[in-house]
Amino acid sequence: MRLLCCSSLGKATGISALFIVGFALILKYFDDDTVPVKYLSMSEDIEAQEEHFRRQNQSCFILGASGETGKVLLEELLQRNIYSRITLIGRRKLTFEGEAYKNLVQEVVDFEKLDEYAAAFQGHHVGYCCLGTTRAKAGADGFVRVDHDYVLKSAELAKVGGCKQFHLESSRGANKDSSFLYLKVKGQVEAEIEALDFDRFSIYRPGVLLVDRQESRPGEWLARKFFAAVNTVVTSSMSVPIQAVAKAMVSNTLLQPEKKTEILENKAIAALGKTVKK
Ligand SMILES: NC(=O)c1ccc[n+]([C@@H]2O[C@H](COP(=O)([O-])OP(=O)(O)OC[C@H]3O[C@@H](n4cnc5c(N)ncnc54)[C@H](OP(=O)(O)O)[C@@H]3O)[C@@H](O)[C@H]2O)c1
Repeated sequence: MRLLCCSSLGKATGISALFIVGFALILKYFDDDTVPVKYLSMSEDIEAQEEHFRRQNQSCFILGASGETGKVLLEELLQRNIYSRITLIGRRKLTFEGEAYKNLVQEVVDFEKLDEYAAAFQGHHVGYCCLGTTRAKAGADGFVRVDHDYVLKSAELAKVGGCKQFHLESSRGANKDSSFLYLKVKGQVEAEIEALDFDRFSIYRPGVLLVDRQESRPGEWLARKFFAAVNTVVTSSMSVPIQAVAKAMVSNTLLQPEKKTEILENKAIAALGKTVKK
């Protein structure tokens, strides 16, 4: 009986593995996420670029530093030490322990009254936005409020406050004409921020974020497990490890794009996220 049970289990595992490999190969064949980002120069020596950037004494802010991407992005920025000042703008104060965090500035704001907190957005060279919620968590209106209204208002205040570059974590499939609320809102906010005319606007469109999320999101958990398995077979346009997103956001900041607005699709993020070994 036990032997029978083990052999059934073995068969099921084998079939699942075959399914994942098959799916991965099909995905690779039909994958159309191949739009490369063009840079004016792309030095191999990332450390020299970091040093060059560091000497400019720039400052940045992060929106959503308490979230999964924001947390990793903050660690990446601290480790690579390219800014003289990092400000976290959020709805609550975060607790950090250790020397590495001693120079962080935290601005606690009420996102419903952002105009009253314009000062928090003043004087930063670069802004990173990893803010977002889900429809399941906040309802349709709440989702639009956060992923569109809060994000756009923050970008507007940053622009008025002198910010030159805005880096937005959007989503794979973002499209202002989509009939899906999530993709439509992501596409709309991208277009509206582009119209603000930052010197540089970088849009990151990751697929499913591969991360052991603290918060329970059962549907996303299942998708993550599946795509994590697929990701071990091929790099697809459907998912990306969260560390790669953070690394790509930082590395991309160091490079000079050809255009004012650049869109990094999932594969470009995964590729750029691999360029830094540290
Ligand atoms: N999950 C995915 O697989 C996936 C895939 C592609 C793109 N994205 C997009 O990538 C971005 C980052 O995703 P993530 O999973 O890293 O985010 P996350 O872990 O859900 O964190 C979201 C951040 O937004 C803040 N936030 C949420 N609701 C808020 C509200 N009502 N008022 C103020 N702040 C609020 C959170 O602050 P608190 O900590 O205070 O709640 C947190 O800092 C999002 O825009 C998301 O749509 C996600």
